[in-house]
Amino acid sequence: MNNQTLFPLYGKDKQADAPQASQVETPTHARRVYIETYGCQMNVSDSELMAGILMQSGHQTVSVLDDADVVLVNTCAIRENAETKVINRLTQLNHHKRRHPDLIIGVCGCMAQHLRDKLIDAAPYVDLVMGPDAYRDLPIALDSLARGVESHVSMTDRDPFVGLRLDKSEDYADIAPIRKEGIRAWLTIQRGCDKMCTFCIVPFVRGRERSLPLKLLVEDVEKLVDQGFKEVVLLGQTVNSYHDNDADFGDLLYAIGDVDGLERVRFTSPHPADATDSMIDAMANSPSVCKHLHLPLQSGSTEVLERMRRTYTAAEYRDLVSKLRERVPDIAITTDVIVGFCGETDAEFQQTYEMMADIRYDSAFMFKYSEREGTLAHKALPDDVPETVKGERLKQIIGLQEKISAEINTATVGDTVTVLVEGESRRDADKYHGKSDGFKTAVFPKADSKIGDVVNVRVERTTAHTLIGQIV
Ligand code: SAH
Ligand code: F3S
Repeated sequence: MNNQTLFPLYGKDKQADAPQASQVETPTHARRVYIETYGCQMNVSDSELMAGILMQSGHQTVSVLDDADVVLVNTCAIRENAETKVINRLTQLNHHKRRHPDLIIGVCGCMAQHLRDKLIDAAPYVDLVMGPDAYRDLPIALDSLARGVESHVSMTDRDPFVGLRLDKSEDYADIAPIRKEGIRAWLTIQRGCDKMCTFCIVPFVRGRERSLPLKLLVEDVEKLVDQGFKEVVLLGQTVNSYHDNDADFGDLLYAIGDVDGLERVRFTSPHPADATDSMIDAMANSPSVCKHLHLPLQSGSTEVLERMRRTYTAAEYRDLVSKLRERVPDIAITTDVIVGFCGETDAEFQQTYEMMADIRYDSAFMFKYSEREGTLAHKALPDDVPETVKGERLKQIIGLQEKISAEINTATVGDTVTVLVEGESRRDADKYHGKSDGFKTAVFPKADSKIGDVVNVRVERTTAHTLIGQIV
């Protein structure tokens, strides 16, 4: 790289020198930006936020890459294969750039934050590297990069724009995200994570936990209802540790559940250690709060949970599930499980298998442990379970879970479930699809219903992942 740096690399130390986004009013170069999103719903929500920041400053988002001057790839760093996928995509985008030499390629999100300089070494054609707390600077970045394009500095001669500060005070509370029209809206209520599970990169790439003000969130939901949304999904890394002065997550659930015209509230993902009575009460008593809890288990062995620093034991987790099932009848419980974590013995894995067999989750996301540089496990615990053993264990729990999910679905035949109508079935234009309260996909003939209605569907038959029936 030469010294024609268009914009300094600024981390925490240089932050004070960096111009603030608020100083930029109209962009000198309005750009057409194509945003591509990888990873979790939080990233989908962040992409909507990025679109909001860009539109607010006069840029435009486009839905086709060929129409774009700028492509922003919003990335995930949670497991190695998530990063490999993005690197492959960047290689493709570099080919595209050969045909469109002025195209600006930006890498945003968790992987940008995680890989930092290594990303620039691996993909030197990247013009912009920006972490989750720096999106406010997107307009400044595009402006300075666009000036570079106009002054014909060759792309390879320019240093990229780098924004990687993590900022505990950044909650983007004043930014209006740009969402696609629809029935379900995602609403970030908390950013970052303070838990420090030893396997997890999130606290390092998303920074410290911060909650948005309750009053503002309720106003946001009122606006979403005005825009036609019927369901809101509250997002946070440990969403139930939410707090705003004296108000906790249960208070927030009640407040949002009371918004006129909103049919449903869901949230993801809670942490078992933060599952308070206040949260359980709101799930049991607020009619709009869906009776579905995604409750990450990670492992059924207390010893493994300790090495993961999950802060609960296997017995405490089981007790929590019993309490939930008692207090919230018919609750659907889903989970995340990791196999092959550092030092996991056959006996420890067996405890996970048994826990899943006993609890009988409605569904589960299951993963092989993927070591992430910079995490506590990477520093202190050897990644010593052979890949083949990880694969074998994963296969075993996937087989178990598929069987349980199918059995749970089969048992609903003859039941009537309430479904929020979301859209036309992809396979059959005479049918609609939607989700049940417990987040199962239901497919049924349209009859007189329309998108956005809440209908009662009698289940006639099921597949492993779908309920098929008729409106009654
Ligand atoms: N609290 C967050 C967790 C985000 S990560 C949330 O649920 O929103 C989602 C899941 O990915 C975790 O629950 C865990 O099961 C899995 N995961 C995280 N780090 C991992 C790693 N290093 N290897 C394998 N799986 C991992
Ligand atoms: Fe990761 Fe544990 Fe937080 S899984 S997101 S460190 S709760």
